Amino acid sequence: MFGAPSMSAVASSVASCARASAARVPSRRGGYAARLGVGAKSARGASVVPAAFTPAGAKIAGVGMELPSQSLTNEDLAALVDTNDEWIRTRTGIGKRHVISGDESLTSLAAGAAKKALAMANVDAKDVDVIILATSSPDDAFGSACTVQAEIGASGALAYDLTAACSGFVVGLVNGVHFLRGGEYEHVLVIGADVLSRYVDWRDRGTCILFGDGAGACVLSKTTDPNDCCLLGFDMHSDGTGNGNLTSKFTSESQVCGTAKPTSESDGAASGVGSFANIAMNGQEVFKFAVRTVPDTLTKSLDKAGVSSEEIDHLVLHQANQRIIDGAAKKFGLGKEKVVSNIEKYGNTSAGSVPIAMAEAVLEGRIKQGDIVATAGFGAGLTWASAILRW
Ligand code: ACO
Repeated sequence: MFGAPSMSAVASSVASCARASAARVPSRRGGYAARLGVGAKSARGASVVPAAFTPAGAKIAGVGMELPSQSLTNEDLAALVDTNDEWIRTRTGIGKRHVISGDESLTSLAAGAAKKALAMANVDAKDVDVIILATSSPDDAFGSACTVQAEIGASGALAYDLTAACSGFVVGLVNGVHFLRGGEYEHVLVIGADVLSRYVDWRDRGTCILFGDGAGACVLSKTTDPNDCCLLGFDMHSDGTGNGNLTSKFTSESQVCGTAKPTSESDGAASGVGSFANIAMNGQEVFKFAVRTVPDTLTKSLDKAGVSSEEIDHLVLHQANQRIIDGAAKKFGLGKEKVVSNIEKYGNTSAGSVPIAMAEAVLEGRIKQGDIVATAGFGAGLTWASAILRW
């Protein structure tokens, strides 16, 4: 459905992206070819060209999204904290957000989005090779990718979680494309999902107005031509020195596990007792960080892709604050018609926000085959990442 078009400008971008990717691979072990085994000798002296590493391309084959059934309006929050609809809309662009209730969970949202993406891609779950679940709020500390795998019946896949906060989906997308470009895999499912309502302090008006729950997913499929690649350029960073600006820290109430030697007199507790604290954010610092890094990372990705800002058809940014989105759009001279924004309806769904925005824009018929999509995520870590995609 989303097969690659032939666009000469884009083809040269793909080539420059391939050159840039090759240039980034360290050469001390004999370069890309040697590391892939191409032309290498086996222990018995015969030439070995592993089929697993026949370079390939990748395309976005399907997208999906899933939101909790319950939503909270700004008026609902005004009943909890000292805030009002006008302040929230003016400062953030948010009108309401969805939050999980009842049986809903991170796994159920992620699985719902994944099933829809697989249906659009016409890919059987059993044919998925890798599932990357970008999330900061798994249902289990060991991760939720495997429970999503079980839920959708992707019995042949390796499933694992990726934690990079609101940048997680873009990082996962870049990871997924690279799995396919190595030639080993046919289909990678990348999901971005979060249920940060579990960690929101509903007494803190500085954060509770921002976050919502949700999941988005995309299916990436291998193409045989290495030059036929949906990822034209990317750029990814983190800076742990800014970590304190946005946290949900684990706090241990017992000294048994992790912080001291276990003892038999551990207050009767079988193990350490603790939990993740509510989200704490220095909003102004995160705002300044986003305003600085988003245009910067997008510029780098555009340069690597060889794509000019005029060629961008859709700007799909992490939906954290409408003012951040508008600022970036202005910087690149992009009119409203090129900016994808659904923050008014869903708030900041963290790792879910970029894939939900992408899926909705596809389902509405806005993003079409051949379009150039510029995307970026940013958030806790601190982390930030961007990618230029050809749909
Ligand atoms: N309702 C009414 N008043 C409020 C509210 C509220 N919900 N929240 C704060 N205020 C008040 C403040 O107390 C302050 O009052 P004062 O001037 O009397 O002290 C005033 O409004 C201004 O507060 P600021 O914090 O300066 O407001 P700001 O314009 O910076 O907006 C916001 C706050 C919306 C949080 C903004 O800083 C922001 O969007 N930051 C970025 C958040 C973000 O992008 N996070 C992304 C990462 S998410 C992730 O990785 C999981």
